[in-house]
This record gives sequence, C-alpha cells and structure tokens, in this order.
Amino acid sequence: MSLILMEGGRRLSGAITVQGAKNSVLPILAATLLCGDICRIRRCPRLQDVETTMEILRHLGCRVWWESEDLLVDSSTVCCWEIPDQLMRKMRSSVIFLGAILSRCGQAKISYPGGCELGPRPIDLHLAALRQLGAQIEETGGSLCCYAEQMNGSELMLSLPSVGATENAILAACGAAGTTTIHNAAREPEIRDLQNFLCAMGADVHGAGSSTIHVVGKKRLHGCDHQVIADRIVAATYLSAAAGAGGDICLQEVDPGHFSTVTAALAQAGCRITCDETSVRLQSDRPLRGISLIRTSPYPGFPTDAQAVVMAALLRSQGTSVFVENMFENRYRHAAELRRMGADIRPEGRVAVVCGVPRLQAARVDSTDLRGGAALVVAGLQAEGITEVGEIHHIQRGYADIVGDLSRLGAVIRRENT
Ligand code: EPZ
Repeated sequence: MSLILMEGGRRLSGAITVQGAKNSVLPILAATLLCGDICRIRRCPRLQDVETTMEILRHLGCRVWWESEDLLVDSSTVCCWEIPDQLMRKMRSSVIFLGAILSRCGQAKISYPGGCELGPRPIDLHLAALRQLGAQIEETGGSLCCYAEQMNGSELMLSLPSVGATENAILAACGAAGTTTIHNAAREPEIRDLQNFLCAMGADVHGAGSSTIHVVGKKRLHGCDHQVIADRIVAATYLSAAAGAGGDICLQEVDPGHFSTVTAALAQAGCRITCDETSVRLQSDRPLRGISLIRTSPYPGFPTDAQAVVMAALLRSQGTSVFVENMFENRYRHAAELRRMGADIRPEGRVAVVCGVPRLQAARVDSTDLRGGAALVVAGLQAEGITEVGEIHHIQRGYADIVGDLSRLGAVIRRENT
C-alpha cells in the first residue's frame, strides 16, 4: 500500500507549470477513434485514468504510445466495438467512448461506467441523446448493446448541462448525417478543448463554451496535433494549498479565466491574487477569513471539483464558511477524514458549515475519492506534525505528480510504499 506523508507548517513558495487537463484529455482520446489516422496529444498528463483509456484504445485495436510528454494514437486499425466491464468500471469517462465507437463502427457494447462515488451518476441523458440521433440501445444485465446503422442530425435538448452527455452527443453527432444542434450544452472549458481538437481533425463543430453547440456530421477526418489545456482543478488545488498553508506561489501556463470563481473565492478569504494572460500568483500571509457562501454550479459557476480543496484551505480561517454542493448528492465524504485532523465541519445534506479552528493536528487519514483525497493533502500541509494519507490511488487518477509539484513549491512531502 502507498501513502503520501507531509509535514505541516511550512509556507509554500515558487513557480510551477500545471499539468494538462484530465477532463479534457479523456474525451479527446476517445475522439481519436473518429479519424482512423495518427493524432499527437501534447501536454498529456500521466494519470491512472489516462492509462485506463490507453488500455481501452488498445483493446479496440488502436496503437497508443508515448513520445516524451506527448501521447500518440493511431486509430487506423480499429477492429472492435466492445469495451470489457472491468475497463468500463475503472472510471466515469469510459462512457464517453459510446458516442465515438458508434460514430466509427455503427455499433457498440459497453457496461455502466465507474468513477468516484459522489452519489448516483446516471447516464440517462447520454442514452437519450444517442437514441434521438438514431441509435438503438438495449440495456440487458448491466450491458448496453447499441446499434446505429445510420445516425441522423437532430435538435437535442439536454435537461441538465451535463458535461459527459454533451461530449457524448458531440462525438456521436460527428458520425450523423446532417446537422445536430445541442441545446443546454455544458459550457466547461474542456468542451471547448474537445471542439478545438475535433476541428483540428477536420470536423465541423462550433459553439462550444456557449449553451448551444452545432455539429455538421460525416466530415472526412484526418489525424492532428493538439495541445491540451491546463488542468484548472489541479491549479485550484495548488492555490488552495498555498492559501491554507500560507505562502507566495505562481502557477504558469494556465488560463486564469478557467478558474476565476476559485480565485475570486480565495481573494474573498483574504488572499492576494494577481494574474496575467498565462499565470496566476497567490500570496497568503495571514489567517484567512471565512467565506459566507460557496455554491457549486455548472461552468462558469464555482466548480464542484474545487469544493473539497477550497474547503480544506478554509479549515483554519477566522470565521465560518458555508458550502452548498448542488452537483452531486454525496460529495462531502472527505469531511469525516478532515475532522480526524481537528476540523470543524458539519455536513447536512447539500450544505456543509465549516467553522475555522486555530490549529489542525496531523493524523492518519484515507482518501475517499479523487478531489477529497487532494483536500486531505491541502489540510495536511497546515496540520501540526506529519499527516499520512492512504488510499492514494484515488488521487493518482487525476494528479500526475502532486508530491513532486508540491515539493517544488517548498512542501515537505513524500510518497512511501509500505
Ligand atoms: C464531469 O463528470 C467531470 N468528469 C467531473 O469531474 C465533474 O465533477 C462533472 O463533470 C461536473 O462538472 C469528467 O469530465 C471525466 P455531469 P460528469 O454529467 O460528466 C447528473 C473530477 O473530479 N447527470 O456534468 O459525470 C449527474 O448525476 C470529476 O475530475 C444525470 O442526471 O458530470 C450530476 O448530478 C468528478 N444524468 C450532474 O448531472 C446523466 O445522464 C452533473 O453531471 C448525466 C449526468
């Protein structure tokens, strides 16, 4: 079993670049199936979820290999349309392959995806969109058998701006004859990144970043060379770490506009934030103030994925902070672990009240999910003593090198294999 150990009480300082975005690269890798050619994905983070995606692509018949920090996919030899259950269960974003495989092969067989246990994570919106485009989908015994002899463009209305459903609809629409319009689409930056990748392959997709996305399907596609955007949640994590522990850090090669609600919240808590086009500097040199209300909502609102790490930054603030988690039913699982360190957090349904405490104590804690695990690290950097974080496989799904990155910012942190 592996642990992450860190000694609290050190201020963070220095500058680092932030890894490529997990939630961009996963749908982009699924999209490589569409072109039947070679694609180069630059700034691809080395994550467990990327490894799983590589296994899926190879299972489908693709060649996949690293060249330094670039991941290359040759999808010219796709020969399979079925993803085994044990691969589907490893992450949520395996479901995004459904639209891509249907576009490429006209049929697909998958099971329900896995991913962080944040409450129910249905895929009804995904399936409704694909059915409206003309796919026949039979749900038998946990498997989804999908056939789409011919998909036709359609007017899709998403009842929720679901990120995954938007991405699945875009990928399926690329294989549909005619034009598809997706209404109430998710507006996350990762969807704009997917659009940019698809257009680099020769697809005709526009409107990403707004609530209405247009796709003209059946374009002849080809390989491309694409650099993934920076991971805005990893950036939010490191800013939260410096905010909580104190310090002066700079994150480079990021788009500050992608996480402006997080920097605004940290500024409200008393941090000094300065941005230019590609970097963000955070200075935190006094106890933080509580933040009266943080409500998570779809982009451009406050990201649900930053809720846990910002909460961890506020544990020693002078005052009370109130969180409302509107996106998932069970996304406070990290609270119980943080309370082991002396935090005063009271979850009640979708609301969590955080009362600042003067000190946190080091403890042996376990990650409950990806961002909850990162929150334990943010808290451990503030606690007196050496905190041990277990179940770090959750963290490794989304952070390429959280130990190395934080070490480069001055943290006393290491990974230990026991
Ligand atoms: C994506 O998940 C992200 N994952 C999540 O990041 C992120 O928290 C989430 O979007 C919201 O921003 C990836 O991109 C791989 P949704 P996704 O569909 O697509 C409900 C992380 O930490 N819903 O936008 O699964 C759903 O239950 C992860 O990096 C339906 O009801 O999220 C949720 O309440 C965690 N039916 C809400 O919509 C559906 O068919 C938003 O989910 C689909 C979703």
